[in-house]
Amino acid sequence: MIIEPRIRGFICLTAHPKGCEQNVINQINYTKSKGTINGAKKVLVIGASTGFGLASRITSAFGSNAATIGVYFEKPAQPGKTASPGWYNTAAFEQQAQAAGLYAKSINGDAFSNEIKEKTIDLIKADLGQVDLVIYSIASPVRTNPVTGITHRSVLKPIGQTFTNKTVDFHTGVVSTISIEPCTEEDIANTVAVMGGEDWDMWMEALNKAGVLAPGATTVAYSYIGPDLTEPVYRKGTIGRAKDHLEATASVITGKLGNIGGKAYVSVNKALVTQASSAIPVIPLYISLLYKVMKEKGIHEGCIEQMQRLFAQRLYFSGGVPTDDKGRIRIDDWEMRTDVQDQVAALWKEATTETLPAIGDLEGYKTDFYNLFGFKVNGVDYTADTDEMVEVPGLV
Ligand code: NAD
Ligand code: NA
Repeated sequence: MIIEPRIRGFICLTAHPKGCEQNVINQINYTKSKGTINGAKKVLVIGASTGFGLASRITSAFGSNAATIGVYFEKPAQPGKTASPGWYNTAAFEQQAQAAGLYAKSINGDAFSNEIKEKTIDLIKADLGQVDLVIYSIASPVRTNPVTGITHRSVLKPIGQTFTNKTVDFHTGVVSTISIEPCTEEDIANTVAVMGGEDWDMWMEALNKAGVLAPGATTVAYSYIGPDLTEPVYRKGTIGRAKDHLEATASVITGKLGNIGGKAYVSVNKALVTQASSAIPVIPLYISLLYKVMKEKGIHEGCIEQMQRLFAQRLYFSGGVPTDDKGRIRIDDWEMRTDVQDQVAALWKEATTETLPAIGDLEGYKTDFYNLFGFKVNGVDYTADTDEMVEVPGLV
């Protein structure tokens, strides 16, 4: 069929298999162009199908020749209805990996459940024995706790007071003022339950108990800090509480991995266009100004460039893993540079519907958004008849 984007607010209802494949191939080529990383050889990626998780899997496989197992939650296609982008991404990745002689298998299901954890452990035992790196890169609005059976929903709200600031509708380019009402105590607890560290801890405990973590195994989860501008709705809002919890969980996990000499890290990553970040008010305006400034300075990065730097210059850096005073790995260092942040803050004051096309990178934002779903990707023929039914070769 001919597959076109069907946008509804912050999401696109369709995805293009060839565009998703091209995105994956571009990321693989980037990784190969940067040479070998002396990294982990057996890697489990939880949240492996899009964004930072997919880029971590590509960096492991094509940077270190690693065998990879990916866990994700994606929708397969039905005749006449496309799959979700992460499905097509994984199909493309596993085709490329297997063609390169690399082990690549995956599990599609709810990573928060006991069942998917057990299935993953069984697969590691059967095929790899143990893993030496576990990447935890889940982004989800909802989680059912397998112990209590309670389903929690996260919210993106400020804590304590109403937050009023500028935002942009990135489809129309209209800049307006929005006010977000503060959350309740229950909202905070629910957001921490979904996006905090509890599930990461449960995964690491289950893997450790099952004996499938290699001596000295490392695990990494991803966090975000960002500027003062977005603080009320991000780092000091409900999601920030979840990130505080995630960061605190790293030392809890490191404590529990004493038996194997393992270590848990949080890496603070750069703001990027993903399905998750497009839905957060204020953030798209910040990102469009940030992209403009970082591109002008020649320091803009996407997920794959970020993961390349994480693996080559932080995790597997010969001089040991550099961290900040709170033990966090920082690859948001270029985003947070004073010259970058000063310029973004100045542009923020000037941003209106009229000025944004010139002072911000709204086009870059939009292109990245379409690219997430495999659209507007260079070299793809969108007029060609395309088979929506694509198999994931390593799906267990
Ligand atoms: P993403 O939406 O691109 O990826 C989320 C992944 O989680 C996908 O593979 C999806 O299939 C999987 N997933 C979601 N629910 C699942 C479930 N129940 N079971 C199994 N898999 C599930 O998100 P992303 O932006 O790459 O975010 C990954 C992490 O990076 C998050 O912790 C996020 O907060 C963090 N981060 C994001 C940014 C940013 O700007 N996007 C910046 C810094 C840190
Ligand atoms: Na991810």
